Amino acid sequence: MSATPARRDPFKPAKRVAGQKQDVWSIVNEAAAASPIQPIVNMGQGFFGYNPPQFVLDAAKAALDRVECNQYSPTKGRPRLKQALADAYSPFFGRTLNSETEITITTGANEGMLSAFMAFIEEGDEVIVFEPFFDQYISNIEMPGGKVIYVPMHPPKDGAVKSTSAAEWTIDMKELEAAITPKTRMIVLNTPHNPIGKVFSKEELQAIGDLCVKNNIIILSDEVYDRLYYVPFTRIATLSPEIAKLTLTVGSGGKNFYATGWRVGWLIGPEHMIKYVSAAHTRICYSSVSPLQEATAVAFEEAEKHNFWNESKDEMHGKMNEFNKIWDELGLPYSDPEGGYFVLVNMSKVQLPDDYEFPPHVAERPRDFKLSWFLIKEVGVAAIPPTEFFTPGNAHIVEDWLRFAVCKNDDVLETAQERLRALKKYIK
Ligand SMILES: Cc1ncc(COP(=O)(O)O)c(C=O)c1O
Repeated sequence: MSATPARRDPFKPAKRVAGQKQDVWSIVNEAAAASPIQPIVNMGQGFFGYNPPQFVLDAAKAALDRVECNQYSPTKGRPRLKQALADAYSPFFGRTLNSETEITITTGANEGMLSAFMAFIEEGDEVIVFEPFFDQYISNIEMPGGKVIYVPMHPPKDGAVKSTSAAEWTIDMKELEAAITPKTRMIVLNTPHNPIGKVFSKEELQAIGDLCVKNNIIILSDEVYDRLYYVPFTRIATLSPEIAKLTLTVGSGGKNFYATGWRVGWLIGPEHMIKYVSAAHTRICYSSVSPLQEATAVAFEEAEKHNFWNESKDEMHGKMNEFNKIWDELGLPYSDPEGGYFVLVNMSKVQLPDDYEFPPHVAERPRDFKLSWFLIKEVGVAAIPPTEFFTPGNAHIVEDWLRFAVCKNDDVLETAQERLRALKKYIK
């Protein structure tokens, strides 16, 4: 009599989720919630400390009163939002975007990117990602069986001794070219960049675009911070028709209108790619949240009238400049961002007490996790350890840095500055 085969443990997780480390957001948010200093100033995750503007909130409330806005939207998105995006983005792209065929709405930029990978990546295909990277890219690429190929961005040489510009983080085009193989299917770009705050120059984008055209590589350009740039901003899709043919541009209503919880995003690109992205999106979540798509449509229609884009950019840049004065005061160098709302600060001069006790899940991580923990518990300010945006082999590049998000109310930023002065006694 043959033995009955042992039944598989029904709760054994699939490889794609098993073995994942506790994510940095949970570590920081949980530590922040348990800090003896309450309320903590949470400058960790990039959520806004304030509401969307009133005209956007009003649009969301009005949408809830409309029967059709509470039901399924078309899978590719609400026609009004696609039209509003076509109207808003056609001038940037220098041509009239077809709202029916060249734009698709997704559940946040994140699900949009997952849909793009699901649409084009087969088992074993390679996707080039620059380090540091937004952490979600990795699992989104691996879920359809893609292999991530990392190309490092090189930090400013003297970033530990003086404040530098985010522009000084550079790509070595030879390294990028060497990473391309016959299996390379896509490359992921992010400008303005999280966490560096770099806005890629036109020349850098042209060089990347030319390589992609030469090798027929799809460009997924994550431009979720596209309205927050403090130096000239170029969209890679606008550089040439050949590059445009290969480019999917990613946007986020959450980032644009201070509503990260709305989960409204989109992809803009040529019909020969958008149709497959929408096909994947349909299978992942069918369609995206209806009333908030409608509200995002109104937000785009009315933004110029309220001078929202200029104000939003000036306000964020003002917050950034004002907040960073604390680093000048403390003598801690930072990487001055060219866009977005994150600033990387170099803490190599901060000496953590030798006898300080860290919990095991922090003690085993690089120094930036310890710095983050220490700031949360002793100073009352939460920031993100950026080694999480690197592979373990390259984590040392940023183990002395912390990332602060300045998308918070001015009084919160002032409290943070006040608290950060407590670091003085630890600075050597
Ligand atoms: C670079 C980057 N891409 C994408 C996203 C996700 O955007 P969304 O909230 O629209 O999914 C974020 C959010 O932090 C981000 O920083």
